[in-house]
Amino acid sequence: MKVILSTRLKNIFLIIITLSAIVYLYLQWSFQSQLSLFESDDLKSNYIKDIGFTVEEEYDVDGQVADSEKTDDKFTELEDGIYHNFEVDRVISPVFEARQYADKNNLPFILWWTPFTGEKGKLKKCFIGECYFTIDRQLYNHNATMALLFYGSNFNGNDLPLPRKKLHEWGLLHEESPKNQALFMFQDIMELFNYTSTFKQQSSYPISTQYIVSESYLLKPSVYTVSEKNWMKETLDLASIAYIQTGCNPPSDRDAYVQELMKYIRVDSYGKCLHNKDLPVELNSPSKMNSKAFIEFIGKYKFVLSFENAICNDYITEKLFRTFNMGSIPIYKGAPNIRDWLPDDHSAIIVDDFNSPKDLADYINFVDSNSTVYEQYLEYKTIGLRNPILNKALSERQWGVKSFYRMSYVTGFECYVCDQIHSNLKLMQEGKLPIKHQATFEHYGCPKPEKYNYSDIPGAFDWERNIWLWEYEKAKKNSVLLKEKVYSTLE
Ligand SMILES: *[C@@H]1O[C@H](CO)[C@@H](O)[C@H](O)[C@H]1NC(C)=O
Ligand SMILES: *[C@@H]1O[C@H](CO)[C@@H](O)[C@H](O)[C@H]1NC(C)=O
Ligand SMILES: *[C@@H]1O[C@H](CO)[C@@H](O)[C@H](O)[C@H]1NC(C)=O
Ligand SMILES: *[C@@H]1O[C@H](CO)[C@@H](O)[C@H](O)[C@H]1NC(C)=O
Repeated sequence: MKVILSTRLKNIFLIIITLSAIVYLYLQWSFQSQLSLFESDDLKSNYIKDIGFTVEEEYDVDGQVADSEKTDDKFTELEDGIYHNFEVDRVISPVFEARQYADKNNLPFILWWTPFTGEKGKLKKCFIGECYFTIDRQLYNHNATMALLFYGSNFNGNDLPLPRKKLHEWGLLHEESPKNQALFMFQDIMELFNYTSTFKQQSSYPISTQYIVSESYLLKPSVYTVSEKNWMKETLDLASIAYIQTGCNPPSDRDAYVQELMKYIRVDSYGKCLHNKDLPVELNSPSKMNSKAFIEFIGKYKFVLSFENAICNDYITEKLFRTFNMGSIPIYKGAPNIRDWLPDDHSAIIVDDFNSPKDLADYINFVDSNSTVYEQYLEYKTIGLRNPILNKALSERQWGVKSFYRMSYVTGFECYVCDQIHSNLKLMQEGKLPIKHQATFEHYGCPKPEKYNYSDIPGAFDWERNIWLWEYEKAKKNSVLLKEKVYSTLE
């Protein structure tokens, strides 16, 4: 049958096609330029936690920004009230032609196997060369794909890019402790990676200072003076020590210690663990923990228990640095090498220095009772940082924390890998051998968890404390199997 279209119909048809094409191109564009590709909420929230900042945190942010600038185009709202400045992340515009540009210029592809960044395709101009970053697994077989990146929390031994091609270097980004993923405690797993970015000083691209916003964040004057704190302690009937913890009975077994300590000294415990006091409703949410109101609320306390969830060298978190920021004395349990990271050698009370919780309680009472002794712990606020390791790490890091004008450490690590690839390509062009990189145990380096030898916590099940040892043994076996699996497929 012959279909006859009137000129008018043909025109309408053409207009519809043109409009659809425009809509399609627009969708393509917005698809690529926005963070709409997260495969799970888990990944999205991790990414946002790592690179985003809230306006509430702004007074602590590295680099002040005028109110008028906050709504500026350069801040992408990752989710309600959480922003990031992608302009500082070395992205080459326009994003739309990223892939064509990468193909034309023979750029290396770097594939996030765990789709951490949610970015389908982005070009970044690093320090030595440019690379194309993607989460598109179809590019696994592409001959330009030279590195695969993994985000530790979502690393899954049953979902690996195997067979591993000769060309494929692997990179691991993991800022979390082994509470989150036990596998990386073993050499057998770590040696599968060529590059790492972890809290460990020995990692290829260390992010030990990931919770220190800036030097001035640490040196900020205390929220309250010691006499104000003493006065509030009496009039508001506060303990001298605050504890705020929601993840109870973690691998560090901190709650067993704190429970024992509470036999000898009063502790106001606001979190879920050993809870004996309620936070004001408006502060009772994890997202408020860095807010100004929270800092002022806890800043009334003379001491804050800053206990990490796991014990690893260089694993140091906001629990410690937030306490410095508010100007209370941290009572610290965590990294055995914590002295590498303190503002000076007399700025925290270190649990490992005491033989027992009772001895620690006696010492806290002594510091509490004498304002001169108390204030000696805060001298760094006026004298400045006197720790060469900390100073060096802060001044040499290329990335910023909640920064308006420095790249995130996620981009920092991406660029580190990109640059290693470029320098090796250059060596090979010159007929030289490429430089080999292989991670070791020391790039993460957390030891087997240990339990305290105190009676169990009432109301808490013992299995909760034992689970970490069980996880450790399981991960130890799995790490051997996984290593064999990867090596047996090496092409
Ligand atoms: C990659 O494959 C393309 C064809 O798909 C080819 O033109 C190019 O030379 C290859 N590059 C390398 C480095 O093998
Ligand atoms: C407080 O400590 C200082 C310095 O150690 C000491 O000189 C002073 O006598 C102490 N004050 C009291 C009341 O014990
Ligand atoms: C990367 O790591 C793998 C696995 O350990 C190793 O076989 C390979 O030689 C390393 N590649 C380079 C370029 O260092
Ligand atoms: C735990 O403490 C008890 C009493 O102090 C002691 O007899 C026991 O040997 C300790 N156990 C361990 C594993 O240290």
